[in-house]
Amino acid sequence: VNYGVPTQQKAIVDKLLNGLRRLEYRGYDSAGIAVDNGPTVDQLSPVVLKETGKIDELQKHIEGRAAELHGDLYFENHCGIGHTRWATHGPPAPKNSHPHTSDVANEFLVVHNGIITNHGALKAMLEKKGYAFESDTDTEVIPKLTKFLFDKFAPRRITFRQLVMEVVRQLHGAFALIFKSTHYPGELVAAKRGSPLLLGIVEEKKTSVSVVTSEGYRTSNAGDNDADEAPDAKRRKNAPRKQHLEFYFASDASAMVEHTKRVLHLEDDDVAHLHDGGYGIYRMERSAEVERTVETLKMELENIMKGEFEHFMKKEIHEQPESVVQTMMGRVVKDMEGAASRVFLGGMINFVSTIRRSRRIVLCGCGTSYNSAIAVRQLMEELTELPVTLELASDVLDRRCPFFRDDTCVFISQSGETADTLKAMQYAKDRGALCVGIVNTVGSAISRSTDCGVHINAGAEIGVASTKAYTCQIVAMVLLSLSLSEDSMSLHSRRKRIMSSLLELPNAIRKALLLDAQMRELAKELKDENSLLLLGRGYNYATALEGALKVKEVALLHSEGILAGEMKHGPLALVDEVLPLIIVATMDDSYKKQESAVQQLRARGGRLILIVSEEDDEIAKTAGDKATIVRVPTVEDCLQSVVNIVPLQLLSYHLTVLRGHNVDQPRNLAKSVTVE
Ligand code: G6P
Repeated sequence: VNYGVPTQQKAIVDKLLNGLRRLEYRGYDSAGIAVDNGPTVDQLSPVVLKETGKIDELQKHIEGRAAELHGDLYFENHCGIGHTRWATHGPPAPKNSHPHTSDVANEFLVVHNGIITNHGALKAMLEKKGYAFESDTDTEVIPKLTKFLFDKFAPRRITFRQLVMEVVRQLHGAFALIFKSTHYPGELVAAKRGSPLLLGIVEEKKTSVSVVTSEGYRTSNAGDNDADEAPDAKRRKNAPRKQHLEFYFASDASAMVEHTKRVLHLEDDDVAHLHDGGYGIYRMERSAEVERTVETLKMELENIMKGEFEHFMKKEIHEQPESVVQTMMGRVVKDMEGAASRVFLGGMINFVSTIRRSRRIVLCGCGTSYNSAIAVRQLMEELTELPVTLELASDVLDRRCPFFRDDTCVFISQSGETADTLKAMQYAKDRGALCVGIVNTVGSAISRSTDCGVHINAGAEIGVASTKAYTCQIVAMVLLSLSLSEDSMSLHSRRKRIMSSLLELPNAIRKALLLDAQMRELAKELKDENSLLLLGRGYNYATALEGALKVKEVALLHSEGILAGEMKHGPLALVDEVLPLIIVATMDDSYKKQESAVQQLRARGGRLILIVSEEDDEIAKTAGDKATIVRVPTVEDCLQSVVNIVPLQLLSYHLTVLRGHNVDQPRNLAKSVTVE
């Protein structure tokens, strides 16, 4: 929304497209926008433009329809909306993309993230009233229901906000919604339940700008000494709701960071209303206005740009030496000699003793975040001497897992918005468990609603395939395990070794990144394969799973990670001279067993690729001349998985490029899955 400063329609369209491009990593099968259109500013008629595919396709479509757009028109108050979609109901198609409309005149337009679970019943009701539906989506019921209720209330002329509240009261499911209407020009209303939604506020500049007052717009030197102004004018000028010129609603801060760093997070059942140059936030249940804290984003534009890299995934893989430092920053305390002596986690300070008294620790997440839990389980059990169990978030809900008051449940999520993880967290909370968040996105739903937690501070991760968040999640949970075992005398030297190895980690990752060329060559050999098998055990079972997940999700090549101990119980049957086998066999307690697995696989003519410790000469001999050997630097055993995943991330990256697939936006996947 822009208020008070006349803006050309073309600039508004560009801003929307640009914002959508920044969100494209969250959904990218189709997109659309709605902007006010002419013929004149007094005769507004919104235009809706949609296209299947990426934002570039939408842009081309808009350029193709330039004749219908009054691009040169200047709007003083303009509300444009846009959406990039990841299909849940109905295939990618213009008719299924957002904004959805109430009727041909576009009286009500809606963009929606999430899912409306009672859309069937609402649609049946609206069809009976004569409404015709054109899409296969759940969303389309919302603008139609809005129109229906608007007509019903018409004689009493309710406000846009009241109308939206009436609509939202009828909706079940999860949503972040933005409404635009010809009946309420210059206004937008947003509502949220379950899906993330932020409001960005562009602060008034200290130079000469238009200031919105209750009478209208005028020009003033805002921020200058205004002692000689009438008290009333001064009060209006200082009223926070009336001082902003531009507002941005978005599901993710990256869409607005180039315009403003001042954002507030809407809470579930908040309704935000932009009108008359200001904003107000209201609670659904009481319709009462509430205050929400405006926070300052730490994110910088360059964090969400690719810079010198061709792809975000590559950039993020290469950022890992720095991102693990960010995770440890201020948390690993050094003594006078510069050696790491203790761990300090500000977000956990009042909870450590409660966790130590818990009956068990449950680690819970989805996808890569779940794999990071597998990677730290063994260490957490060792250091805390508590049982540590692992749960996939969706399975917690399916099984209605027994959680208890004396459980500590740790929820791991890069986005902090994954619906399954969020629901599992609420489920655990309802049962009285202590909920801890290991989250990257500050201000996300999981980070706000857990009892305590550790932000991993990996920086924005844009590539759909998670890389740096994975390694930072492991580091964060190693820190957590260390802080939970601080007063154990028997673990003193082990803890010291882990802490000093943490400080070596950035260099070890840097060295592992030098394997890039070798991984590119290996990718050339493997690019036409139909399948890969990855084997790991102990600390590196997670490496096998995560490596396989990376290859699967971006290179679109079937790959499976297995616990090497299970090899004899089935997967061995697959071994022949064709199937490539990637075996993680760095030196730790599982080394001897992995060596014997290598012997058995070689005996069956298996095609071996080994990830080994750089100082190890033995296992290469066991594997034979035909084996490919990938040497990685050595760190403390419980941190080795952070180093070992790096060549596999690089391999999956190169396989994807060579196989000609989209690296950052793999087919059918989304970065943040905010629907169950
Ligand atoms: C999606 C992404 C995965 C990610 C998973 C969990 O499936 O494609 O890369 O690991 O969600 O996401 P979270 O944000 O909770 O870590």
